[in-house]
Amino acid sequence: MSKEIKSVDYGLEKIFEGAQDFLPLLGTDYVEFYVGNAKQSAHFYKTAFGFQSHAYCGLETGSKDKTSYVLKQDKIRLVLTTPLNSQSKINDHIVKHGDGVKVIALWVDDARSAYQETTSRGAKSYMEPVVEKDEFGEVVRAGIYTYGETVHMFVERKNYKGPFLPGFEAWESDYNPSPTGLKYIDHMVGNVGWGQMNTWVKWYEDVMGFENFLSFDDKQIHTEYSALMSKVMSNGNGRIKFPINEPAKGNKKSQIEEYLDFYEGSGVQHIAVATDDIITTVSLLKERGVEFLPPPPQTYYDEIPKRLGEHKHMLKEDIKALQKLSILVDADEEGYLLQIFTKPVEDRPTLFFEIIQRMGARGFGAGNFKALFESIEREQAKRGTL
Ligand code: FE2
Repeated sequence: MSKEIKSVDYGLEKIFEGAQDFLPLLGTDYVEFYVGNAKQSAHFYKTAFGFQSHAYCGLETGSKDKTSYVLKQDKIRLVLTTPLNSQSKINDHIVKHGDGVKVIALWVDDARSAYQETTSRGAKSYMEPVVEKDEFGEVVRAGIYTYGETVHMFVERKNYKGPFLPGFEAWESDYNPSPTGLKYIDHMVGNVGWGQMNTWVKWYEDVMGFENFLSFDDKQIHTEYSALMSKVMSNGNGRIKFPINEPAKGNKKSQIEEYLDFYEGSGVQHIAVATDDIITTVSLLKERGVEFLPPPPQTYYDEIPKRLGEHKHMLKEDIKALQKLSILVDADEEGYLLQIFTKPVEDRPTLFFEIIQRMGARGFGAGNFKALFESIEREQAKRGTL
């Protein structure tokens, strides 16, 4: 039986007419990192990024083999998990990949249906639907593998009123640095191996019902030295966006290849978090020790009015203030966006964060790719991996 999907584009929201979206996603539920020392990571994300103590599980709550700290800032929930003994499988992930993202959890109304719909379309199972209960109600979770060892967990929490998940207790801390204005996850990017981008694009189309709404090839994304290709996948309502990158041939090593070498496989490259005041957010992050990529050259800022084109008069921010913080600017037909990228947040040159403020633009800063990648290459050169 063929399913005809009629979509109507209403600005940011693409609304599917009828009930044909077989995997309705309400948003990102949480992002879980496997890390070597969750206690210290939690301190870093609180101190540097302004995340708030939210929930905890560990020996004190009856969790014998792992500890997890849940941190929250507006709609963003990070879970930092570490194993408590050498037998835990979490160790294997950390040994291979270093600290990194294990789970991109997606908030759904019906986790059993999400699992059934995706596994019947070819997803590899990570966890069959499990019902977890405590005095606050119940949560149903089920998981499937995506690229590498990364997992999409479906989380159904409509019958739950607790702080996070059954087994977790609220985490009250005496140390509560203030937030930095991070609001929600705008997109999360996956790096996959040579020639695998289209395989995963098709996987997101077939298994998850996503659509490819933007593509960049190596002719658009290259510098003098290196190149990559990227396709942006989006779910039906546009709330979940997963760009997929693969390396492309250049004179020197692609930054994607460097990631794949150090992560030892495919995985999450960056998490883009939205703010509605990037100047304040980035000022705070810098004061608190978050490291950003080196600034683009002066000519980059001289060319901003040209890059903004017809949106030049819309720009509310002072170009000098943007330059002082090394914030990048790009525009598309619908408006402009401001963005900046951190250095990797662990010693392996793998996962980093993007801070983004959208002023109408729906793109990903394609006009900044060259300046951005030249910054990354200067860092690669220092590491001897260009
Ligand atoms: Fe991004």
